[in-house]
Amino acid sequence: MSFLTEITRMWLTRSTRKFSFYNEYDEHLPYGECDNLGLYIHIPFCKSICSFCPYCKVIYSEEKCNKYIDSLIHEIHMAGNEYEGKKTVTSLYFGGGTPALAIDRIEEILDAVREHFIITEGIGLELHPDNVTYDTLTACKKAGITKLSIGIQSFQEKYQDILGRRSVNIDPIRDALSKVSFETVSMDFIFALPTQTIDDLKNDIDMALKLGANYVAIYPFIDFSFTKSDIKALDNKKKRAMLDEITMYCLEKGFKRSSIWTFATESSAKYSSMTRDNFLGFGCSATTLLKKQFKINTFDVDEYCKRIESGKLATSLTIRFTLRQRMVYYLFWMAYSTKVNADDFERFFGVKLSKMYGMELKLAQLFKLITYKDGTYEMTLKGAFYYHYYEKFYTYSYIDKMWGIMRKEAFPKQIKF
Ligand SMILES: C[S@@+](CC[C@H](N)C(=O)[O-])C[C@H]1O[C@@H](n2cnc3c(N)ncnc32)[C@H](O)[C@@H]1O
Ligand code: SF4
Repeated sequence: MSFLTEITRMWLTRSTRKFSFYNEYDEHLPYGECDNLGLYIHIPFCKSICSFCPYCKVIYSEEKCNKYIDSLIHEIHMAGNEYEGKKTVTSLYFGGGTPALAIDRIEEILDAVREHFIITEGIGLELHPDNVTYDTLTACKKAGITKLSIGIQSFQEKYQDILGRRSVNIDPIRDALSKVSFETVSMDFIFALPTQTIDDLKNDIDMALKLGANYVAIYPFIDFSFTKSDIKALDNKKKRAMLDEITMYCLEKGFKRSSIWTFATESSAKYSSMTRDNFLGFGCSATTLLKKQFKINTFDVDEYCKRIESGKLATSLTIRFTLRQRMVYYLFWMAYSTKVNADDFERFFGVKLSKMYGMELKLAQLFKLITYKDGTYEMTLKGAFYYHYYEKFYTYSYIDKMWGIMRKEAFPKQIKF
């Protein structure tokens, strides 16, 4: 682990105690006491595997997918039965993999979810560009999906080639999106690819708007150590210039920044499974964040099904937080939205944010990384760049290490950071 992340962890948690994840086969999820709870469902199947992609996924087969969905529904009932009555949750997001490969069973999954939860802010689903057809969108709409996220990456053949993907076929996407409407249509792009210019990115954003997107997610390319990709991202200086320019471009075009990576043309457009106080995750590799604990399910599809069939949750690793560790987690995820509200923090922890992190907030204001107005701390353009920069360390030090191990071992004994 890098020296920088280690020092930051010790400083922010005021302790030398590591973030320790143990294989406790955690069975108990006390989410009843959690407000502002979100749901996430992972569908780990893809028609082909992209070399740069770090997510938990396997090649699709109808038989494997059906078996998995049976287990998933079983897991939803197991977790749902922990709480008597129906728990109100904010939103539900389907991610992957390619959730549309299970479109025939989405209604069945949602029926199971609705037996235990009341969803108040809509349901999102990730789509591969090949899935954006009239039939699939109609099926999504019928099932009650209100938000779509389409993994475009780039409209330009050159960058799809670099990423090892086929070029995006624009006409069927335009046609399907013009016929079936959704509250949010988000498109994902990757920036800082070799030779990519700001004009390439601007053209992508323009095309997204033309096709009917009201939300864009612009991710910096991340070269995970365990993927087979040989793509090298642009250096930090070029990345920063690109990030600042594309942010200004989106703001000029009338977008509002809704998170560190995302921009929306209308305030009703929302697509974020991360900026929640708490969330429950179902399916392999899904994570669950509650008041005092965080857990991650096994990455192994077969082992996931076996555990669920044996009547147990498929938890692989659990961390029990100290109060300061939970605060750091809260602030890190909340910072994705580029804003942290002091009253929300106090409501969650019962103690003032300024009392716990007053010095850090003052320093961040002094260095013009954040501003403070009416109880809310908001990241500046400079702050957003440094957050991106720090997020990269976090990704390499924590996520890369954890996912690298979890891909190889279904139930590792422990991981400490
Ligand atoms: C689960 S993935 C993809 C959804 C869908 N299966 C697809 O391929 O279109 C969600 C998003 O993560 C982003 N992503 C994946 N790998 C990445 C990487 N190495 N660096 C940056 N972003 C990445 C992509 O923008 C992608 O659309
Ligand atoms: S980018 Fe999408 S299609 Fe490609 S492997 Fe990842 S989840 Fe599957």
